[in-house]
Amino acid sequence: MIHTRVHVVNNPEEMGRLAADLFEAAIQAKPACVIGLATGSTPLPLYRELIAREKAGRIDFSKVRSANLDEYKGLAPDHPQSYRRFMQENLFDHISIRPENTIVPDGLAADIDAMCKAYEEKIESWGGVDLQLLGIGHDGHIGFNEPEDHFPGMTHEVQLTEMTRDANKRFFASIDEVPTAAFTMGIGTVMAARKIVMVVTGEDKREILRKTFWGPVTPQVPASILQFHPDVTLICDKAAYPF
Ligand code: PGA
Repeated sequence: MIHTRVHVVNNPEEMGRLAADLFEAAIQAKPACVIGLATGSTPLPLYRELIAREKAGRIDFSKVRSANLDEYKGLAPDHPQSYRRFMQENLFDHISIRPENTIVPDGLAADIDAMCKAYEEKIESWGGVDLQLLGIGHDGHIGFNEPEDHFPGMTHEVQLTEMTRDANKRFFASIDEVPTAAFTMGIGTVMAARKIVMVVTGEDKREILRKTFWGPVTPQVPASILQFHPDVTLICDKAAYPF
């Protein structure tokens, strides 16, 4: 743990407010900033807070650009469990961000290599990610970068582990409907963000959080690479905090 700032909060609302402060500051400093966004249950209080702050006139999303971490392979944008749909319902439909300024990997891409390359190029053409939001999986994944023998660089296709499919089956009718593959920004894409904020709640994340920031840096715990990023803010609740 070299550079990471750690905030231990009392409840999800406090986490949402603290994380929203970072987004508000980034957008105030640069109205057309590029934010990296994440799906999952943990970011939801943050998204509610961002919506409320724009309604209250504190934030203006009209010039902001956003790039999401990942998408399930094989799901159409309007599929109820697609990450595009998740973002529309939980954030984009309620703020002034322009549709053309939101990108999510295309789950139906026919030419996967071309889609992944274009995704990286789009982020680069926007000038790179200013502030990246991350959750963490029980196996230490960020985006859908699962434990491997190396840190994958750029946006690519991944096979989902059984642990991840099992964790996400709560959103599907049955485990058989959970996709077996996904497209995700690489670890290199994530590490290129100027600032990173990770949000983590719940006792079930305590052990992986300890390994991530207080254990060795290893691709077996993909998020552990964040120890080498110069500007990471970790916001976790008391249940997830390992000490
Ligand atoms: P969660 O997902 O916020 O729903 O726990 C986190 C993740 O898998 O990255």
